[in-house]
Amino acid sequence: MKPIEIKPDIYWVGVVDWSIRDFHGYITQNGTTYNNYLIMDRDVTLLDTVKHDFDQVAVDNIKHLVDLKKIKNIVINHIEPDHASSIATIMEHAPDATIYITERGKKGLDRHFYGTSWKFKVVKSGDTLSTGKYTLTFLETPMLHWPDSMVTYIKEAKLLISQDAFGQHMASAARFDDEFFSCHSQFELDDAIVDYYANILMPFGKLIEGKIEEVVKLGLEFDMIAPDHGIIWRKDPGYIINRYLELAKGKADLSAVIIYDTMWHSTELMSDPIMNGIKDEGVPCKIIKLRTNPMSQAIKEFWRSRGCLIGTPTINNVMFPSVAGFLYHLGGLRPKDRMIGGFGSYGWGGGAVKEAYARFAQMGLEVFEPGLQVVYRPSAEDREKCYEFGQNFAKRLKEYHAKFENI
Ligand code: FEO
Repeated sequence: MKPIEIKPDIYWVGVVDWSIRDFHGYITQNGTTYNNYLIMDRDVTLLDTVKHDFDQVAVDNIKHLVDLKKIKNIVINHIEPDHASSIATIMEHAPDATIYITERGKKGLDRHFYGTSWKFKVVKSGDTLSTGKYTLTFLETPMLHWPDSMVTYIKEAKLLISQDAFGQHMASAARFDDEFFSCHSQFELDDAIVDYYANILMPFGKLIEGKIEEVVKLGLEFDMIAPDHGIIWRKDPGYIINRYLELAKGKADLSAVIIYDTMWHSTELMSDPIMNGIKDEGVPCKIIKLRTNPMSQAIKEFWRSRGCLIGTPTINNVMFPSVAGFLYHLGGLRPKDRMIGGFGSYGWGGGAVKEAYARFAQMGLEVFEPGLQVVYRPSAEDREKCYEFGQNFAKRLKEYHAKFENI
């Protein structure tokens, strides 16, 4: 791959991973990129590495510009293996380089690469590194989204290297937002932003709001944000900052999603009239079946919509396994400001809908009660009840959504 100059003497030297579809269980339908950056200054400085599968590609990318022996500094903003696992290969070529990293980053890296004799410089917020004409300032961003995380600001270039923040899992020949929009669409990129945020950053909304406020107070001027995944924001970095603030504050569409699974189609048969009831109240609604869609897509659609209905049949007096797994995973993402309810078919004892409501209560979401249950296969009368259930859900959802009109 060819290095791309993003600012004078600062190059993207990353990798486009067109084929990845399973990113530690998160289904990446659009592939991804592992972005890293090389500053060709008096002191050659590499910011982040790439996933180890591509370590030789990363070496070749850098060789287009410089002999790796000349790398003096390596900044590791985040130690997750998609960004730091090529460090061993890079250090073989640049054994004299010093690694700039947070304290928790160093501890983590030591646990990934035992017994190295690499030189480290532990940094904290406000510490700087001069590479010659450029000054790098480090800003710790703990739990965004790992404890070790930090970002690097390059004052003279008005450039923020933001690691995972503001990224998207999007493989593309376009490197920049304006390039992307000229050959794809803003909707496609926004979908990738919501997908990434919902699946990776949903638990950290308060921290994100606080960190963005902190950056604003510091008065850092930047005209480019270069994340470690996806598109670099050069035309409109304000767009992604505002979008993150909206997402962090829990902004959602006035829409609903039905997320369900089914054994013998009875719970599935309930979904359609429920969706019609919601739609006829003027609220757009999507249906997602869990076993035929990636869980990460269900998480994205959950976060995009203000309301969600969970459909689950009863099996052995509890929820269907895919639904139970979904709610368990969703709980870990600590969702907020969403309304949720449940429905399902059962044969004899029931229990799944009750169990689903217990999970809703644990998550602290706005709960739409009571849930709707049908014995065995829904009759015409049951389907009418499903329609009314959908209508009532949509009516309550509109009232609930109105509370968030200022976001
Ligand atoms: Fe892209 Fe948290 O690694």
